[in-house]
Amino acid sequence: MSSEVSTGSDRRPTKEELDAMSPEQLARLAGELDEVEVVHNTPAFPIPGTRAEKRAERSVALWFVISAISMIAFVVAFIAWPWEYVNVGEPGHALYNLYTPVIGFTFGFSVLSIGIAVIQMVKKLFPDETSVQQRHDGPSTDVDRATFLAQVADAGKGTTIGRRKLIIRSAGLAAAVAGIGTGVVALGGIIRNPWAEGDDAPLWHTGWRPENGETVYLRTDTGILSEIARVRPEDMEPGSMMTVFPYRESERGNEEELLHAQRASDAPVMLIRLRPGTEVTKRPGQENFNYGDFYAWSKVCTHLGCPTSLYQAQDNRILCPCHQSQFLATQDAEPVFGPAARPLPQLPITVNEEGFFVARSDFVEPVGPAFWERPKTT
Ligand code: FES
Repeated sequence: MSSEVSTGSDRRPTKEELDAMSPEQLARLAGELDEVEVVHNTPAFPIPGTRAEKRAERSVALWFVISAISMIAFVVAFIAWPWEYVNVGEPGHALYNLYTPVIGFTFGFSVLSIGIAVIQMVKKLFPDETSVQQRHDGPSTDVDRATFLAQVADAGKGTTIGRRKLIIRSAGLAAAVAGIGTGVVALGGIIRNPWAEGDDAPLWHTGWRPENGETVYLRTDTGILSEIARVRPEDMEPGSMMTVFPYRESERGNEEELLHAQRASDAPVMLIRLRPGTEVTKRPGQENFNYGDFYAWSKVCTHLGCPTSLYQAQDNRILCPCHQSQFLATQDAEPVFGPAARPLPQLPITVNEEGFFVARSDFVEPVGPAFWERPKTT
């Protein structure tokens, strides 16, 4: 059979002719069928093995290797760098502060390096080709489908990647290490055991935990950190809500401590004053967590942790703006709509002899989104 196949608009190759064609012929046929005209095609290095070619190849491989090294550094930093919060002034604060920049930089640089390597490979090693194709509508024909893969393989051959073992190996290394690095991020929660400290594990405690017998007040944020506004019952109208944070007298004047108490992600609490006469179904064991019509619930949504900042006094609903979960204040903040599955944890409160709201203890259940092995508190 002839190696040339007519591809005029009235002449399509038969199945037998297609089967008998070499990959190169199929690729050329694909171009002709697609009405692609190659205007010019100049190999980057017409003579293989020159010093310039080897130099270009090495510079591409170098970026893949840099990417792999950077990803390895990310994995090491992700696992071994001290990541737990250290207060300002305490030993280790500087290292803790660098945790996020270090893992961000190493991961980002690794991805960037792969991008640079690919761009360099295309610019330096791929042939310089200009093709023009006529546009046409409709689905691909059987012949087009049969020739497509051959065309892709032929294009790949033209890039000369197949004979560049250094680049193939370094790219494989970068891809493998990138895969491992991404896997480490996904498995990070397993590598780090949040329960390592048992009953003292950070997930069990919040800033509301009384320490050394010191009173924990409910404080509202006036916008000025040093201005301490402890909350009293008369500060709130019936049917109103206020966001409060923990405060201890030992923190007065200590900006760092005050900031930490206010910024802690599990600290915000909604203090709600229901209208007089509102009937509330309380959770067994938590009947005395409220103070009259005043109820304090964690503001951290039990779905994904957004602040449940909206309180609708008409029907006593607490709303989370993120995914529209609704919690009923009159049913002890049980979720009644949306994706949240657990009630908002309630903070036990009372009023002390000075007339200020104080926390009677920490929350009796974990705050925030559900996590592994957390039993639903009833
Ligand atoms: S975080 Fe509140 S509904 Fe999703």
